[in-house]
Amino acid sequence: MTITLKTPQEHEKMRVAGKLAADVLEMISDFVVAGVTTGELDQRCHDFMVNEQQTIPAPLNYHGFPKSICTSVNHQVCHGIPGHKKLKDGDIINIDITVIKDEYHGDTSKMFVVGQPSILAKRLIETTQKSMYLGISMVKPGVRLGDIGHAIQTFAESKKYSIVREYCGHGIGRVFHEEPQVLHYGKPDTGVILEEGMTFTIEPMVNAGKRQVKLLSDEWTVVTKDRSLSAQYEHTLGVTSTGFEIFTLRSDEAIEADSIPLHLIKP
Ligand code: MF3
Ligand code: CO
Ligand code: CO
Repeated sequence: MTITLKTPQEHEKMRVAGKLAADVLEMISDFVVAGVTTGELDQRCHDFMVNEQQTIPAPLNYHGFPKSICTSVNHQVCHGIPGHKKLKDGDIINIDITVIKDEYHGDTSKMFVVGQPSILAKRLIETTQKSMYLGISMVKPGVRLGDIGHAIQTFAESKKYSIVREYCGHGIGRVFHEEPQVLHYGKPDTGVILEEGMTFTIEPMVNAGKRQVKLLSDEWTVVTKDRSLSAQYEHTLGVTSTGFEIFTLRSDEAIEADSIPLHLIKP
């Protein structure tokens, strides 16, 4: 088990890459409307990354992934491949962006709704985002990853939702996916003990129905087995001496990186 601790110089590079990944999500926001195809969203993000940011879209050709972003619609859980499918009113979509800048990765995703979402969709999305913030808010040296996974799981399950177990957050830096694995479920007082300098993602996938998932024949798209809606949020963060820094924070997030208001998160 080798978890790389990053130097302050590396944290600075993660800060730069993280901000650029967040900028892509902000840029694409206005284009997520009824009638657009996920392929068009991919093309727009690709061109922005390559031409405007001079970043590398990390998913492109990653273990054979054919596109530059992941788009996961409705009952798709993660790793959806952009294509010809048009978004329609009421759809919910996760857009997951990973950029490489100066060799370092920034990885972040959020949910968008097309037109008017159902009450269930809205509540699922809110719960998923809060579960991510709850996990993030616990990050500091000495805390164990099992404590964080347990808190995320307990919160989502208190709303009668389920946590996907087959996919998890991950260490990140010069490498896209490295140790540790950051499970979004678990037991208190177990797992890796956090240390200053660690960098990883927290990216819970929450299903409105049962937790079971299956892989489509395209070998990438993960969907819920019961076809229930699924939502996901993701941030890349670093462990500081006193807590955490969110490298991928967006301007639309009404939180301070070092003081997420817990009263907004608690059940
Ligand atoms: N961005 C995803 C994550 O959060 C990984 C996508 S890998 C891909 O870890 F190949 F599907 F793009
Ligand atoms: Co990730
Ligand atoms: Co991601």
